[in-house]
Amino acid sequence: MRGWTVFLALALMYVTGLAACAPQAGPPSPTAAAQISGDDRSAAEALWAKIQAAKYRENWATIPGKGTFYQPLRPHGVLASTYLSPGASEALKARPGQMPDGAAIVRETYTADKTPRGVGVMLKRQGYDPAHKDWFWATYSPAGEVRNAGKIQSCNACHATVRSNDAIFTFPVASLPAPEVPATEKDKSMAQDLWQKMQTAKYRDNWDTVPGKGTFYKGQPPHGALLSTYLNPQASEALKTMPGQASEGAIIVKENYTPDKALADTTVMYKVPGYDPQHNDWFYADYGPDGKVNMAGKAQYCISCHGAVQSNDYIFDFPMNPPTP
Ligand code: HEC
Ligand code: HEC
Repeated sequence: MRGWTVFLALALMYVTGLAACAPQAGPPSPTAAAQISGDDRSAAEALWAKIQAAKYRENWATIPGKGTFYQPLRPHGVLASTYLSPGASEALKARPGQMPDGAAIVRETYTADKTPRGVGVMLKRQGYDPAHKDWFWATYSPAGEVRNAGKIQSCNACHATVRSNDAIFTFPVASLPAPEVPATEKDKSMAQDLWQKMQTAKYRDNWDTVPGKGTFYKGQPPHGALLSTYLNPQASEALKTMPGQASEGAIIVKENYTPDKALADTTVMYKVPGYDPQHNDWFYADYGPDGKVNMAGKAQYCISCHGAVQSNDYIFDFPMNPPTP
């Protein structure tokens, strides 16, 4: 329970932090903002000027497949648009392990009716904060007033769970090629059993979705254009308690849909103790719309990507570790 409480507390801090900075009558009070060193404040101001000059909305890439106004995970608003500077975009393609110096990720958050809530930026500054992958964080009001800047503790604490992926959640930056392991007959029959288990459980009716995401949210390659992700009770428990690793029997089902909501395939991660200790014991499976097993087992195709977030139990979608300073 403790991890979940910390998560909520952080989310609350984040939200109240924003509320405290909501437009008010009178001049903005410098004390309302978090304590920001002079250097960090001017760096944040320069960063804002820079992203405006770059016209990031027009000129920078979004995350492939996500586009604008997709559903992020709380605490990041109800809708988000994330833009990648050319250096960040290149890293998404080349997966060099970490972002180059100067790479920036700009995330705009919106309320459900698309009213801007704020802007959060991660800027890679080599040597700035080696303990936290050298990220400089800044948050702004939609108009560009600096709300917080520097080594923002809440940002670092939560993003630390994906430190193996340069502290980035949404897409792989690290490249961890694993040797090809072809599916064995046992893998295939395990995959068939798993499919049966999912159907028997009536996962669509009975399992949780990722909080705030629901069904048919925007995905990215190689997963579908639209995604529905279901968590069995063990996986859902892990999302809430953040035990570092999901427990025995945890199942995450990701349905991958085409833009017109046709089911293309179903990708599943299943925690089987002892199955693959080197990679946190995940069994991977990919099924056609009719349940035909396309891929099963220690699929290197899956691991090579999910390995980027090994520090987060190979999970991209939500933090598996409580925030650490
Ligand atoms: C409670 C955990 C948590 C906290 C605190 C948090 N983030 Fe995130 N952040 C996430 C998750 C999870 C994602 C990816 C999921 C999503 O939102 O789509 C993410 C994604 C991002 C991204 C897009 C790049 C990426 O890593 O995928 C940016 C930029 C970002 N956060 C900025 C910030 C800033 C700035 C702060 C501090 C003000 C912050 N975050 C605090 C959990 C957190
Ligand atoms: C090119 C990188 C890549 C490959 C290859 C890949 N995934 Fe993913 N996977 C992701 C990303 C990124 C996410 C986060 C969800 C999204 O698309 O928004 C994800 C999410 C998931 C999730 C939801 C849990 C989580 O990690 O957030 C499951 C389940 C999953 N993938 C299964 C698979 C399986 C099974 C395979 C192999 C058949 C596979 N993936 C191959 C990148 C990849």
